[in-house]
Amino acid sequence: MKGVILAGGLGTRLFPLTKITNKHLLPVYDRPMIYYPIQALVNAGVRDIMIVTGGRKSGDFLSLLGNGSEFGLKHLNYTYQEGEGGIAEALGLASHWASGDKVCVVLGDNIIQYNIAKAVRDFERQDKGAKILLKEVHDPERFGVAELEGERVVKIVEKPKAPKSNKAVIGVYMYDARVFEIIKTLKPSERGELEITDVNNWYIRDGSMTFETLQGWWTDAGTFESLHRASCLVAEGGANLMDDPRPAPERGPK
Ligand code: G1P
Repeated sequence: MKGVILAGGLGTRLFPLTKITNKHLLPVYDRPMIYYPIQALVNAGVRDIMIVTGGRKSGDFLSLLGNGSEFGLKHLNYTYQEGEGGIAEALGLASHWASGDKVCVVLGDNIIQYNIAKAVRDFERQDKGAKILLKEVHDPERFGVAELEGERVVKIVEKPKAPKSNKAVIGVYMYDARVFEIIKTLKPSERGELEITDVNNWYIRDGSMTFETLQGWWTDAGTFESLHRASCLVAEGGANLMDDPRPAPERGPK
């Protein structure tokens, strides 16, 4: 499985912090934000990684990360997203590189407490489709929200005004190679972006979406509140810990 980290965008919700730099280069406690998704993939055994970046100071990713030796990697791959076309568009830029492999996509501003190795292993064994990770939150209207019927996710709604559950879809997504064909069929949403939620709803309609419930804390770091929270959570006990004491049960069709 290959790993894709999405680290583009203008980070407008963090102005003026992002006026002259990329959001994913900002500090989260003791290291730059982009370190966390890289470590999450490496800890899950994914070592073939592409970073999709863009916007301000995209060249700084090379100076900061080089070939990923700090993470024990021999090589890192980079590509460039022009403009603000959305998460799905950014993922589409990795199409030529993924070349038929499954991909684990991590949003560059998502930070998790525990290792996602089990979910990645489970998806390696899943013959086709996609897998998402869900986490109960107190502010679901900020996220993609899963609607469940029993043990099945029947729909995901992006930033609903009246969420039907408190289960947010976190920014870690696993897809089979069909994802790049699906992205080509998407139309921009009202915010003018190709939405990852539309990709996920495609797999739900296909009957090949599975999900797991994330154990431990998860946060994005794309707003002042969540950036502060991320730093506090990391300072209190660290992120990307190797031992998840309570492996999540797997759900959904195989
Ligand atoms: C994005 C996705 C959303 C997801 C969230 C996780 O939102 O669109 O579905 O729940 O990441 O961080 P954004 O941060 O682009 O508003």
